[in-house]
Amino acid sequence: MCAANDNELKALVRKQFTSTAEVFGNYAVTHRVTDAELLARLVCAAPTDRAVDLACGPGTLALRFARHVKWVCGLDFTPAILELARRNALREGLSNLVCVLGDAQALPFGDSSLDLAVTSFSLHHISDPASVLREMARVLKPGGRVGVLDILVSEDPKVRELNNRIERIRDNSHARSLARSDFDRIFGQAGLRMVASEERGHPRTFDHWMHVAGWKRTDSQYIEARQLMESSMADDGANFHPRFEPAEVVKPGEEPDIYMINTGIYIAAEKI
Ligand SMILES: C[S@@+](CC[C@H](N)C(=O)[O-])C[C@H]1O[C@@H](n2cnc3c(N)ncnc32)[C@H](O)[C@@H]1O
Repeated sequence: MCAANDNELKALVRKQFTSTAEVFGNYAVTHRVTDAELLARLVCAAPTDRAVDLACGPGTLALRFARHVKWVCGLDFTPAILELARRNALREGLSNLVCVLGDAQALPFGDSSLDLAVTSFSLHHISDPASVLREMARVLKPGGRVGVLDILVSEDPKVRELNNRIERIRDNSHARSLARSDFDRIFGQAGLRMVASEERGHPRTFDHWMHVAGWKRTDSQYIEARQLMESSMADDGANFHPRFEPAEVVKPGEEPDIYMINTGIYIAAEKI
């Protein structure tokens, strides 16, 4: 993506996470505790570590990592959601967590200055995710560790095209979800050796997925994304595993919710 488009994408990301700061932020910090703890285990977060959580949003990883490491910086370029991270840190009495406004593609740290760099659900919002991994590698000491949690998409071009199309209707700041081979390539190019990885499915309902992106059933974005999601049910053509389930209570005349699965990948790596 060229620089002009990169700036346009960044503006869309800031707009999205300003308007959904509360609804998305409160969801992320309450529902992603297990994810953050799993990543902390995979990267062996330790009491002597100085760490950064880039694109930290409401502090989803940073709030958990602060309990395992000496010092952690939560960095994000959307002031509204970073403010939520600050409030959360204050409420939880985490004096070793600092929140800084900044760009994940140009980290405000010197070369080889940190032990640990982590990020979650950010790479799919960035036009050049490889540049983020290069920055993570740059600021780490040799042997320093990287932890990444993000959406994982199928290698099948048709499936990933439909998957990304639905994601972009839901959130126009979604750039591109990565497949396993993309992660392998960009980690390798950044001089990072993968030491562990895990894939996990996150079951949820379509309505809730749309809700945390700021949409309700009557919105055109909801309607368009739902039509595509339903059309992918027969062959699971977008890899969301969508299905209807018998519900105890359905309001007369109302369409049932859709059950679906978001697939996530957790990767731990070290700087060679
Ligand atoms: C989907 S949210 C994820 C937030 C958090 N890491 C989590 O897992 O809940 C994406 C976040 O990435 C941030 N972001 C995207 N691109 C960024 C960049 N280049 N530099 C800093 N933050 C960025 C957005 O502001 C937003 O807070």
